[in-house]
Amino acid sequence: MREREAMAGTTAPVVIVGAGHSGVAVAAGLRARGWEGGILLLDTENEAPYERPPLSKDLLKGGASDESAVLRKEKFYQDKRIDRLAGTTAEAIDRKGRTVLLSDGSRHAYHRLVIATGSRARPLTVPGARLAGVQSLRTRDDALELKRMLVPRACIAIIGAGYIGLEVAAAAAARGCDVTVLEFQDRVMSRVTSVPVSRHFEQLHERHGVRFVFGAAVTAIEGDRRAERVVTADGQVFQADVVLAGIGVLPNQELAADAGLECRDGILVDGDCRTSDVAIYATGDVTRFTSPVDGASQRLECIQNALAQADKVAAHITGHEASDPEIPWFWTVQHGVRLQTAGVRHPEDDVIVRGDPFTGRFSVVYLRDGRLSAVDTIAGLADFRPARRLIAHSALIDPILAADPGIPLADAILKDLDPTDPDPTDAAPAAARI
Ligand code: NAI
Repeated sequence: MREREAMAGTTAPVVIVGAGHSGVAVAAGLRARGWEGGILLLDTENEAPYERPPLSKDLLKGGASDESAVLRKEKFYQDKRIDRLAGTTAEAIDRKGRTVLLSDGSRHAYHRLVIATGSRARPLTVPGARLAGVQSLRTRDDALELKRMLVPRACIAIIGAGYIGLEVAAAAAARGCDVTVLEFQDRVMSRVTSVPVSRHFEQLHERHGVRFVFGAAVTAIEGDRRAERVVTADGQVFQADVVLAGIGVLPNQELAADAGLECRDGILVDGDCRTSDVAIYATGDVTRFTSPVDGASQRLECIQNALAQADKVAAHITGHEASDPEIPWFWTVQHGVRLQTAGVRHPEDDVIVRGDPFTGRFSVVYLRDGRLSAVDTIAGLADFRPARRLIAHSALIDPILAADPGIPLADAILKDLDPTDPDPTDAAPAAARI
């Protein structure tokens, strides 16, 4: 149902729970799409909503300002009449009465509720995990605390070789720390990329002095009040003044689950980001949904998805069409080398390396049943843009041609796309299989 009629005459605001990238984008999108009613934006943190990507990168650099880039200036919230309640959490939803109970005891009616509560760092649960010097990195306060500890010659043990672990490893190495990364799997970034890319980044880190221990099952952190050692199941002991756990995230779905909304490692939403209650939407890291590209059930932890879903919600509430779907994309920078990914790779996809990793600049193409599903570009973006268009069209790719970096990726397709098709993402992907 389109909601334009519902906008007229309603007095209750749209209440948005969570002021991360997605929550703020919903608020901005509602105004941009003409929502005249109230907007109440609930923020658990006290400061103005800020950018998260720099927290594990630029903010940790020696000499970098402790200030984080705000998503929107304070004036924006005032000008757009967005009531931001800082330091406030939503405790419970009364779905029947369409109200939400806040941590300050107040209760607010909503016309539509948007749950944009994001995710939290998966906590380390081994003995000693609460010692001083052990931490995760999710908020600006976490990042500043970590930054204070990254002093030259400090021994830092990083648990988890995912995005967080590796970006922090790069920052810590650059600041003269002694860095050991303990990873459960047998390679870095195994959740998001393939072996050739993992190997490339492992070698890059090793050239900067970072040590890796794979197959590491951490069983305890030891120390007298502060962390001093990390112990693994095979009896190895690693000295550590600082222990950073970057072992993934958990969706903040409890508010929704307690209200009886359907959740399964994420709040289940449909193509318009509606939950199992028509008056409640969810966006961003906290959602699980069916990929329009390949039908897979997925929870995407990326800003692109947070913004795209926010646009869908703002459009749906105001009775407009959402922007064209976008192929998800991700990026990370480690020791100055950028890895940019278009699409979502599945572990069983065929892997084709384009170019020579030895040169430091190459791409990796992923094919599922012969069709392009994802592309990693390392230190070069030439394949990134065409990849998004080709993935959106589930293009059938010739693996021999795709392996030749001298041939543009778009020339490796087995059947021509419509040459008049101007934009990477302008067709509904599932309907556009060629
Ligand atoms: P992640 O899922 O990327 O990586 C977690 C890593 O920890 C995996 O390699 C996993 O095998 C390993 N692991 C899990 N449990 C372990 C254990 N007990 N012992 C040793 N290793 C273990 O999650 P990460 O790096 O914590 O990032 C958290 C979130 O932040 C994600 O949503 C990520 O997308 C986001 N993020 C994204 C960035 C980017 O896009 N550049 C940068 C930083 C964070």
